[in-house]
Amino acid sequence: MRPAWVDAVHLGGFVLRVLLKASRTPRCERVLDGMVLVSRAVSWDGGSVVGLLGVVVCAAGPAGGVGELVSLAQGRGWDVQVIATPSALDFIDVEALERQTGNPVRWRYRKPGEPRAPLSDAIIVAPATYNTVNKWAHGISDTYALGVLAEAPGMGTPIVVLPFVNSALAGRHAFKESVSTLRSEGVRFVTGYGERPPRSEGDDRFPWELALREVERAG
Ligand SMILES: Cc1cc2nc3c(=O)[nH]c(=O)nc-3n(C[C@H](O)[C@H](O)[C@H](O)COP(=O)(O)O)c2cc1C
Repeated sequence: MRPAWVDAVHLGGFVLRVLLKASRTPRCERVLDGMVLVSRAVSWDGGSVVGLLGVVVCAAGPAGGVGELVSLAQGRGWDVQVIATPSALDFIDVEALERQTGNPVRWRYRKPGEPRAPLSDAIIVAPATYNTVNKWAHGISDTYALGVLAEAPGMGTPIVVLPFVNSALAGRHAFKESVSTLRSEGVRFVTGYGERPPRSEGDDRFPWELALREVERAG
């Protein structure tokens, strides 16, 4: 049975994140990160917080709907932090996502002396672009998102990728090789989405829930 103070820590961390967002200082960040670490350390019995889910969002059409994945994950008990590529910032509403998650949207490397971001317990990359998948597979780490992804397989973090690339890009040898390389390192791909002909329009839903289901299987 989880003691009541554990729930108080979870709730306190969440409320503090929301309240201090506007006046965030390095000291506040450290207090918040400490609370996150404590809350993760004590959520041993499958209680209200499953863990911290990192959602890496890239610059592709469905990115603007990533709040849907956040809601689904929160409904399953995850605390969520969104990690955006710099290009994805044009596609997402950063303030809305910070309000929704209670966590900062991280998109650039911290400056020396700034506190580290908390490590994710599991990661979903969605939508994943041709660009990010290929760079990741080749060890490139020139965005914060790629830096997180570069380390995660070696740390045993479950990772699920939901690409959104058209059929011309999905068929390229480079992309297929990248998927295969990452799979060989334990990264799970849910493929076959967004593979419509280049420059065509489409309004089919992006299946965020498949990524969430897969990451829960992987964990
Ligand atoms: C409106 C728009 C839609 C795009 N859609 C896709 C897409 O569905 N898949 C993709 O791989 N790239 C897409 N791109 C191209 C990427 O945004 C571009 O390759 C970018 O460099 C990716 O950066 P990132 O991987 O760091 O997010 C799109 C670009 C624009 C402007």
